Amino acid sequence: MKIVEDTVILKNTPINDNIFDMIIKAPAAAQYSAAGQFIEIYTGNGVNLLPRPISICEIDKDNGTLRLVYQVVGKGTEIFSKKKKGDILRIIAPLGNGYGIKTVKKSIFVGGGIGVPPLLEAVKQAEGEKIVILGFRSGTVLKEDFEKTGAKVLIATDDGSVGFKGNVVELMKSENIIGDVIYSCGPKIMLKFLAEYAEEKGIECFVSMEERMACGIGACVGCAVKIKNGDSFVNKKVCKDGPVFNSKEVLWND
Ligand SMILES: Cc1cc2nc3c(=O)[nH]c(=O)nc-3n(C[C@H](O)[C@H](O)[C@H](O)COP(=O)(O)OP(=O)(O)OC[C@H]3O[C@@H](n4cnc5c(N)ncnc54)[C@H](O)[C@@H]3O)c2cc1C
Ligand code: FES
Repeated sequence: MKIVEDTVILKNTPINDNIFDMIIKAPAAAQYSAAGQFIEIYTGNGVNLLPRPISICEIDKDNGTLRLVYQVVGKGTEIFSKKKKGDILRIIAPLGNGYGIKTVKKSIFVGGGIGVPPLLEAVKQAEGEKIVILGFRSGTVLKEDFEKTGAKVLIATDDGSVGFKGNVVELMKSENIIGDVIYSCGPKIMLKFLAEYAEEKGIECFVSMEERMACGIGACVGCAVKIKNGDSFVNKKVCKDGPVFNSKEVLWND
């Protein structure tokens, strides 16, 4: 079910220089949202008409709120960063398929950069043993929030400023991280190497692809991704068929 809702901003504060932590009162959207889904946010600006996709970081169904964590990279996200508590934000939600959290003994969550936020709700919903591996260029985002879930949290940074010096897959190799299922979100190159690691270890792996989007609701082909189909491939829409795909389905070398 897709809902267009005028939501009220309850919080919109910077976590660091260009990453913001926003909570919106969105009772209808929160009721139907699941981990790994995303919303489209209208900018409310005539020049930047297209809504921007942002992952759902946390869902509070009791209070009817959604948490969003976003990085300012261009006009749309800059407009969001200027919004104040009490301002209205029009959204379409929930969008995409989500992770479909499985009941298993041990789940692994792997996030890179601004791909980390949607994993927080996924970790909270999963049962059993949980390992979270987060990778950044430098420093961390949401580390304490993941630690509060009770999961074991490992950090990899390119510059070695926090945790392991290197990328998340190198960290997983060095620690021989194994489990029943991997849920991930991050840059495509990270997801590709993670898919190879998962294949090698025989772990089922779900990847959330953050392609650029136009309509966000399946009405154009702005977000096509190549999905294996026998010896060939078919184009699927990240906004409608994804953003989450089984890593074995994705044609990584296109
Ligand atoms: C399903 C999905 C979930 C997302 N979740 C989040 C989230 O939780 N937090 C967050 O910060 N961002 C998220 N993004 C990325 C976010 O949508 C873009 O950063 C945003 O739309 C950029 O809008 P803008 O107007 O600020 O920048 P624009 O002016 O449109 O673009 C500025 C720069 O950002 C690049 N860019 C735009 N969109 C993307 C993208 N999808 N991937 C990589 N580069 C992009 C452009 O190439 C350009 O260099 C998500 C994207 C998708 C598709
Ligand atoms: S963005 Fe238009 S079909 Fe996905």
